[in-house]
Amino acid sequence: MTSAVEVIAVKRDGGVLSGEQIDWVVGAYTAGVVAEEQMAALAMAILLRGMTAAETARWTRAMIDSGDRLDLRGEPGRPLVDKHSTGGVGDKITLPLAPLVAACGAAVPQLSGRGLGHTGGTLDKLESIPGWRAALTEEEIRAQLAEVGAVICATTPTLAPADRKLYALRDVTGTVESVPLIASSIMSKKIAEGTDALVLDVKAGSGAFMKTPERARELARTMIEIAGAHGLRASALITDMSVPLGLTAGNALEVAESVSVLQGGGPPDVVELTVRLAREMLALGGVNGGPDPASVLASGKAYDVWRAMIAAQGGDPDAPLPVARRVEPVLASRDGVLAGCDAFAVGVAAWRLGAGRARKEDPVDAAAGVRLLARPGDAVAAGQPLLELHTDRPDTLESARAALTGALPIADEAPRGGPLVLEVLR
Ligand code: URA
Repeated sequence: MTSAVEVIAVKRDGGVLSGEQIDWVVGAYTAGVVAEEQMAALAMAILLRGMTAAETARWTRAMIDSGDRLDLRGEPGRPLVDKHSTGGVGDKITLPLAPLVAACGAAVPQLSGRGLGHTGGTLDKLESIPGWRAALTEEEIRAQLAEVGAVICATTPTLAPADRKLYALRDVTGTVESVPLIASSIMSKKIAEGTDALVLDVKAGSGAFMKTPERARELARTMIEIAGAHGLRASALITDMSVPLGLTAGNALEVAESVSVLQGGGPPDVVELTVRLAREMLALGGVNGGPDPASVLASGKAYDVWRAMIAAQGGDPDAPLPVARRVEPVLASRDGVLAGCDAFAVGVAAWRLGAGRARKEDPVDAAAGVRLLARPGDAVAAGQPLLELHTDRPDTLESARAALTGALPIADEAPRGGPLVLEVLR
């Protein structure tokens, strides 16, 4: 028999928790026996002291065992493959990726979350489509996977309930930024979902959790190790998040951009990352020999799957998306070359305009956000619009402009652009 105070003291003093201690504390916290303040102290001790690979794997298993495992497997020969992104500004990749990978022959269960802070959530984006419904039962998810091949929906209430409780606590106690806690949080949900293969998109840069490629690599390695300990095939792309992905940040704006990618257009970086991730997912899932995802995207087959996927969840793929009542430009201060576009600043601006939420119960404005009109490396002239601010609440415009102070530097010479995919870990 152990107690919360004993477990906290072990970690506070830099010790290693036993498997029994981990199982007990996660289970007792989920059941309400360990108090919120005790788990807050333990989370802080873990953040400061870390966890070994064995502790992290056991912590993940305890979180999985706090709820049910889903059984989404369908036809043999159609493996379940999933992707998880650690989140970034303008990261709408799930929207074109899930239908693309389904069009290439895999089944894609994409159980997603809502946004908090400066990065948007996939469900918030899709909810800007009139009629679209996020909450599906396990039975509905299975049926849609069989009929359409792709589902993007909310996690079910019994999937890793310990994580839901712990993530809300970490969010208000300054304990989100712990590699073992982030890795176990993400992986508990993916393992409980029962996917056959998982590709991780771990973002590095100002707009990401992990500000440097080294930290992103550490998180990726930890998640791949957890996957290995649970028999799940996983690989990771470390990708740049120092500039926003694509030209939009904000819910309806990002849906419109995703649709243009599915129709064969869209910004080159969104197309590139969608295709790179699709290839990795198909290879890891063992779907070989079919046409390349780039040609499937260009053929319109992924767009057909998108339409079916949206319609299956009550959405109207042809309905006009919400448009902001007020659109204002931000202008270039001088002639030159746009030398950067800080992802974090753009994310905060979009959030202040109404695209994101401060607390998890807050609503989001579907139409709010930012549209970039120039990319780093583009020549610009004084007075030229560099981006647009979209909002229904004109009182937010001033603080959105303030967030962008210094975020769009103009230089005399073009900056050296780096690659979008920094590294692949397998
Ligand atoms: N996303 C999650 O699901 N969990 C974390 O801890 C961080 C990001």
